[in-house]
Amino acid sequence: MSEKAWGGRFEEKPEAWVDAFNASIHFDQTLIDEDIQGSIAHATMLAHQKIITTEESQEIVRALKSIQLDFHNGKIEFQESLEDIHLNIEHELIQRIGATGGKLHTGRSRNDQVATDMHLYTKKEVQIIIDMIHSFQQTILELAEKHVDTIMPGYTHLQRAQPISFAHHIMTYFWMLERDQSRFQDALKRIDISPLGAAALSGTTYPIDRHETQELLNFKSLYENSIDAVSDRDYIVETLHHINLTMVHLSRLAEEIIFWSSEEAQFITLSDAFSTGSSIMPQKKNPDMAELIRGKVGRTTGHLVSMLVTLKGLPLAYNKDMQEDKEGLFDAMLTIKGSLRIFEGMLSTMTVNEERLNTTVKQDFSNATELADYLVVKGIPFRDAHAIVGKIVLWCIQNKMYLLDVPLDIYQSHHESIESDIYQYLQPDEAVKRRTSYGSTGQEAVKHQLKVAHQYLTQKQ
Ligand code: ARG
Repeated sequence: MSEKAWGGRFEEKPEAWVDAFNASIHFDQTLIDEDIQGSIAHATMLAHQKIITTEESQEIVRALKSIQLDFHNGKIEFQESLEDIHLNIEHELIQRIGATGGKLHTGRSRNDQVATDMHLYTKKEVQIIIDMIHSFQQTILELAEKHVDTIMPGYTHLQRAQPISFAHHIMTYFWMLERDQSRFQDALKRIDISPLGAAALSGTTYPIDRHETQELLNFKSLYENSIDAVSDRDYIVETLHHINLTMVHLSRLAEEIIFWSSEEAQFITLSDAFSTGSSIMPQKKNPDMAELIRGKVGRTTGHLVSMLVTLKGLPLAYNKDMQEDKEGLFDAMLTIKGSLRIFEGMLSTMTVNEERLNTTVKQDFSNATELADYLVVKGIPFRDAHAIVGKIVLWCIQNKMYLLDVPLDIYQSHHESIESDIYQYLQPDEAVKRRTSYGSTGQEAVKHQLKVAHQYLTQKQ
């Protein structure tokens, strides 16, 4: 077992199983690149401030880079007894360059070090998520462009409501994701801040230059208060929330995909590449990817709640409870990136069964509002029209017909102003076309919407 970096005031060593409980190395090695980047900035600044010599700084930087390389080549095995990524790297550094390695931690604590690592990591990952969301939005937009004229039933309460354009329906997710990416963009303001130099909590007596490390690490700003710098985990809560809400959105689309691909609906066909079979039922083709994404919201919600509860009632400044901020965040990142990637593939390879959608929408009462509107055009108050149509629908249910099948004399027995043009009026594509209000499902309105969506995406490039 290696000597503890903090072993000086101790007479006894913890037993291995106690070390195992305390250690974070098995998950915080994810932060190796950020940890080394932060240490290089710190060592560079220490030399500029003449706290260590230029030669010492160069030696430290060189050794840190070789540790990083060796780690990625699988040549380093970290030790649990050395607790975490910070102490493991420091130990390795001292092994390689001796006493000079021990100078790196001057004017620094693991408290500001781990906060720096987490800020760098979260910033990097959030930028990846934003890019992935943009790419997924592009996929949705391309799909929508192909289906402006594909008419499908729009639902409320999962009951057929009114005919809509498939493009209009799918574009709803484009706008949800637009809000998601803008939430991530906004969070970056609070992620992109340097805590480095706060040391344990109170700052340091060494003449360090926090602005220099901020610039070297490419942080937009720096914490004004050293205690806040090491105690703040708000940006992690916020990031977990934004991940979770995006996952909630993906789960809603996943649910639609699952329903649309069912035998009952057959609105879409998933490509084989994004489906799986059954080990017992040879006919099955299951939408497992969509179901998994729907299911994974359980864990991302858990990570958010878990972080909030960890922070609740936590006194200033650093407390070991904060080590619990990592696994949830790392897992949430993997989950959302995996889900976005799968979803993009699934959506860009699925087939929208246009014929099926177009005929489905004729086998329901989703044109009932049209009939009421028709009567309104004839001067009947909407409330009365609603009641008349209700009676006609009831007649249809009793006589096993849809509105397009009702003979004209039956219509006229319900209201004399209904004429033979009603059959054209009730066609689902006519119903969609008549919707000209801004942001509606009418083909012209949808084309305008797609144009605006394009502008949103091009502004980001
Ligand atoms: N492994 C610790 C964490 O993840 C690093 C900071 C430890 N600081 C301390 N004073 N024990 O939070």
